[in-house]
Amino acid sequence: MQRYTVAELLQSENFLQEINIKGWVRTFRSNRFIALNDGSTIKNIQCVIDFENTSESVLKKINTGAAVSIVGTLTESQGKGQTVEINVSKIEILGESNPDEYPIQPKKHSFEFLRENAHLRIRTNTFGAIMRVRSTLSFAVHKYFTENGFYNFHAPIITGSDAEGAGEMFRVSTLNPKNIPLNENGEIDYTQDFFSKETNLTVSGQLEAETYAMSLGKVYTFGPTFRAENSNTSRHLAEFWMIEPEVAFNDLDANMDLSEDFIKNILSYVMTHCHDDIAFLDQRLTQEEKSKPAIQRSEMSLLEKLQFVIENNFKRVTYTEAFDILRNSKPNKKKKFKYPINEWGVDLQSEHERFLVEKHFKCPVILFDYPASIKAFYMRLNDDGKTVRAMDVLFPGIGEIVGGSQREERLDVLKEKIKALEIDEKELWWYLDTRKFGTAVHSGFGLGFERLVQFTTGMGNIRDVIPFPRTPENAEF
Ligand code: 4AD
Ligand code: MG
Repeated sequence: MQRYTVAELLQSENFLQEINIKGWVRTFRSNRFIALNDGSTIKNIQCVIDFENTSESVLKKINTGAAVSIVGTLTESQGKGQTVEINVSKIEILGESNPDEYPIQPKKHSFEFLRENAHLRIRTNTFGAIMRVRSTLSFAVHKYFTENGFYNFHAPIITGSDAEGAGEMFRVSTLNPKNIPLNENGEIDYTQDFFSKETNLTVSGQLEAETYAMSLGKVYTFGPTFRAENSNTSRHLAEFWMIEPEVAFNDLDANMDLSEDFIKNILSYVMTHCHDDIAFLDQRLTQEEKSKPAIQRSEMSLLEKLQFVIENNFKRVTYTEAFDILRNSKPNKKKKFKYPINEWGVDLQSEHERFLVEKHFKCPVILFDYPASIKAFYMRLNDDGKTVRAMDVLFPGIGEIVGGSQREERLDVLKEKIKALEIDEKELWWYLDTRKFGTAVHSGFGLGFERLVQFTTGMGNIRDVIPFPRTPENAEF
């Protein structure tokens, strides 16, 4: 007998057809109605049992969380709120679930509790919806780039270079921690390590992606990246997924255009293809907002926010303009910012980014032309000698969602930069080669996938949009 998913059956009109369905019991009421879910959709299908012809021992095992296989006929539903249901002729308990022990009861659980049960939280409506949206977004990313002539490039995960120069890397080593070999200078002797050199998990695939852009033209990476920064915030993970397009001959304006078109395109794809999940998440967020004090409440619902981003142009503002706005802003004058804005050149904190996006411009903002001193070595120096062609896309509720730049393509300027930052030029010989042989203007950016999933699902904490979050002092599962 053919097995169907809940998603398929809810769209089917093959009434009276005998079908098989397998899934997990969400609720069982009146010894008669099973709400069955199999993950294919947020919706459950109602399965109606003929309890007089079902043994007591089986009835007792139809508990929340149990896996069951059902044979029955699809019928038009009499009940409210559903179109079809299944008249059960046979039910088999595949896997029992002890109701006294099963953590995911049909009631409201806190996100903290569910994080501790990350292996089971996907059985809730909220997490099922988030992870289906995440999967669809991921597909939309590949679809967008493929349709726009990009090649997918798999950046190495183990690397010998620190792309961002921030020194926040996880070491990869097979040296015995109980007996680390040292050289004459008393430093770790990496020549005895697996790769004969110091290696780490990548923080970004950008440097390698640049070499591919300078050969294949348009490329993108979409892979895991790792940062050992001790940031216990709702927007930082130690392991996160990053999407990094890199395009030969694109300048910063083209880079901004690409980031905006890309984000809008994948958001509209997910709105069309995850309609039920996003509608549910929209309701969830509206409920959550109601419990907040009025002045902290968002003016827009989730659906409105998504629609707003798709329909409106991102505001493009230089760092210097943003600096002036912030310096003259009310919270700065009233000393409400934790980090006051006084001198040109300061790095912007998330409180400043959110002020610009949420209070001042009230739309996504692309900040560009940042001070060279606060950005990475590879960004192209402007003629003023003090700013670089950097860009950050800032989103409401999230802050920075994209960081990118036009790259320094001039060998002499790049070499000087590397020297000034005391980076070992020899480590980057291959990167410098792209500037020696057929160098050209090129640009790219990195979009933090989890921050995008956060925005799309309206979730407040980044740990709730990745299956098994890795954060300081936490690598369970
Ligand atoms: O701004 P970042 O550090 O830029 C780069 O790594 C560049 N090499 C990208 C490029 O030009 N190809 O990181 C890019 C984005 C950020 O805007 C943010 O969305 C995300 O990655 N991100 C994080 N997301 C979650 N947890 C963290 N710890 C993150 N750090 C950065
Ligand atoms: Mg950044």
